[in-house]
Amino acid sequence: MNISTNAFYPSSSPMASTCHKLILQTFITFLLMQTLTAQNSNLFREYIGAFSNGVRLSDVPINSFIDFHFILAFAIDYTDTTSPSPTDGKFNIFWDNTTLLPSQIWSIKQANPNVKVALSLGGDTVHGLPANFSPCSIDSWVNNAVISLTSIIQEYNLDSIDIDYEHFSTDEATFAASIGQLITTLKNNGVISFASIAPFEAVNSYYSALWRDYASVIDYVNFQFYAYDATTNVSQFLSYYDKQSCMYIGGKILASISTGVDANGLSPANGFFDACTVLKKENKLPGIFIWSADGSKADGFPYEQEAQKLLAIPYY
Ligand SMILES: *[C@@H]1O[C@H](CO)[C@@H](O)[C@H](O)[C@H]1NC(C)=O
Ligand SMILES: *[C@@H]1O[C@H](CO)[C@@H](O)[C@H](O)[C@H]1NC(C)=O
Repeated sequence: MNISTNAFYPSSSPMASTCHKLILQTFITFLLMQTLTAQNSNLFREYIGAFSNGVRLSDVPINSFIDFHFILAFAIDYTDTTSPSPTDGKFNIFWDNTTLLPSQIWSIKQANPNVKVALSLGGDTVHGLPANFSPCSIDSWVNNAVISLTSIIQEYNLDSIDIDYEHFSTDEATFAASIGQLITTLKNNGVISFASIAPFEAVNSYYSALWRDYASVIDYVNFQFYAYDATTNVSQFLSYYDKQSCMYIGGKILASISTGVDANGLSPANGFFDACTVLKKENKLPGIFIWSADGSKADGFPYEQEAQKLLAIPYY
């Protein structure tokens, strides 16, 4: 279902770019990098609930010396049917809501004042099909999304949304305007207090368009470093980290790993925590996230413990 974006989005005249502009831009970027580079902070985030394997919030070890975010995966604007179809921003619950109930979210927050809970939107697939970002128009999508998400967020006592669309039936400008307006409205309405995005290289054109216009309402960048090859080594990881710091200038870019079967990117065995230590020594590690608690459950969450321990230590 391809959408003619011209119907609702005026085409902008491309700015003529010259060598001088590029050089100036590079210089300004360099200045910004010097002043806006993220600093260390102790935030750990973990996705949970996508695989419906019964993993509970209370299964995951929580270090009380850090900030901890669970991220429910996922709410998707698709019908929850055997042949799911897009709903133009009307979100349904697709995380394991037989286990991850409002009462459990209430309990984990009561027991751990350092815990907040976010809701991730989109994800890779919906019942085996790609979960496409497919608005009918920016206005209708934003209106439907604000109403349906407000209801879910209030029922589950959530604090935040995370944007994880990975497939698109529309252009970058429409994605940026729709998501930017959604985050802005939910923040202005007091429904959420922070927001994050979860890009990877292949979708950077969409997320950098969003970042260009709405960086000020995006608190964290959950960059999916585990989308890189499984042969990634420490020096490659560090160069990817710097590259993405230039893509999302001024952003708090979290280092990340994937656990369970099919884990790619720089693994703990190949030096993920060494790379994090290097970033931390350079005072540019705002946090770490793991995809996912579902994948870590079988091994007893060793990397969750190690990541939180590393973040809890003030300096090296
Ligand atoms: C789980 O979510 C689905 C889809 O929104 C809903 O139909 C169902 O009632 C929910 N189950 C529980 C236990 O809340
Ligand atoms: C990391 O991988 C790159 C590309 O394969 C290679 O050139 C480099 O030598 C490797 N670094 C280390 C420390 O193994």
